[in-house]
Amino acid sequence: MAAPNIETIVSLSKRRGFVYPASDIYGGLGSSWDYGPLGVELANNIKQSWWRWAVYERDDVEGVDSSIIQNRNVWKYSGHEDTFSDPLVDCRDCKARLRLDKLDVDPADGKAMCSNCGLKNLTEPKDFNLMFRTTVGAASAEDDPTALAYLRPETAQGIFINFKNVLDTSRRKLPFGIAQIGKAFRNEVTPGNFIFRTREFEQMEIEYFCRPEDAPRVHQEWIDAYSAWLDTLGISRENIVHYEQNEKELAHYSDRTVDFLYRFFPEREEEDKQFDELLGIANRTDYDLRVHSKKPEDADGKRINPDSTEDLSYFDPQTNERFYPYCIEPSIGVNRTLLAVLMEAYTERTNDKGEVRVVLQLKPSLAPIKVAVLPLAKNNDGIVTLAKKLKRDLQPSMRAVYDDTGGIGKLYARQDEIGTPFCVTVDHESLEDHAVTVRDRDTWEQERVTISELENYLRSRL
Ligand code: GAP
Repeated sequence: MAAPNIETIVSLSKRRGFVYPASDIYGGLGSSWDYGPLGVELANNIKQSWWRWAVYERDDVEGVDSSIIQNRNVWKYSGHEDTFSDPLVDCRDCKARLRLDKLDVDPADGKAMCSNCGLKNLTEPKDFNLMFRTTVGAASAEDDPTALAYLRPETAQGIFINFKNVLDTSRRKLPFGIAQIGKAFRNEVTPGNFIFRTREFEQMEIEYFCRPEDAPRVHQEWIDAYSAWLDTLGISRENIVHYEQNEKELAHYSDRTVDFLYRFFPEREEEDKQFDELLGIANRTDYDLRVHSKKPEDADGKRINPDSTEDLSYFDPQTNERFYPYCIEPSIGVNRTLLAVLMEAYTERTNDKGEVRVVLQLKPSLAPIKVAVLPLAKNNDGIVTLAKKLKRDLQPSMRAVYDDTGGIGKLYARQDEIGTPFCVTVDHESLEDHAVTVRDRDTWEQERVTISELENYLRSRL
């Protein structure tokens, strides 16, 4: 089977309730998406997997949950007010508004070409800041400039400004990290490709602080660690390439960034165009802790940050040194991870009647529903009562559903399509032999299991 493209996933998502177009009843809102009953479960499972792996299974990472709206100075000193922008051009012919850095350049004359009409009649680039603006309190930004605020464009700054709080309250020593999951907002000029690029999205970020001389080694360790974590989500390494950002592409804070590109666009002819960013791992040096630090003066006697009240340097009691730690930052989007997980899991199989079935081979830990309990005869009180009781009994330890809205073949197909690893069928014999049939999503094989053993059986296979 050819690899599914994003359109296949869009259609499955809408049909089965993973993701819907946002504001749909009012005609939608460009590139905004809502997560439905299955999408929210899948996203939560991805976030839980990440948090367990990044925070609980390590001994050196703490979590935080910082505000989306912070003091404007956070974005002034982080550099986002000045530099977090895209170069925009307009096409004088077809009127398309485009990002200059994303356009193909004609090698003959070095001029960028409109990706919409192919002509080269473009205006001079203008910088467009991507931060969403808002005001805090009843004043407008015109009446009171201090009321201006931004929705955060990355969760990272909420970590840097809490560096000292976490250090003091958790009594950590270097190296250690701080993890956060949360929404971020960017007024993207060219959003699109379903949930790949949207204006509102969710990030899972770690800021990992270490001694400056250890940063190159720590950077590599995180690159290796992320390869291993993506394995656990079922994202195959043949669909990932590592990309070293060049000087022009590096963000203003980064010394080196390695992106993991995923094959989000398998339908594109040129292989290198099939891949786009899933995550990035940056060496942010000591940039952020320094810029947020109150420091009376630098070497030239100038005050560096007159607005901050804290110095975010670190004192090493063993060496008696005070310095600004370096920071290695792995940053990944929940939404792009979810898209990659769905693309990897999507398969089609032909049953013995020659019908093509979608089977979503999600890792059981990520599956929105772990088990569906199905009565073979929905008019038989004994079967229905037992099936409903089994569903209720399983629910405390795994997400279970009861479904009697179709024939058994249809019910199996429905669960395959949403990635439910197991279906449990209650039949007439179950009332006599106190056993049920467990059907496996991937092999379609069935096994008879005693009801008293059912929960342990499912748990061991999940
Ligand atoms: N703190 C670093 C940072 O924000 P980034 O490369 O701009 O780095 C990190 O973003 C990750 O966030 C990306 O690799 C991607 O997974 C996700 N992301 C960024 N912009 C996005 C958007 N507009 N829509 C969906 N996900 C996005």
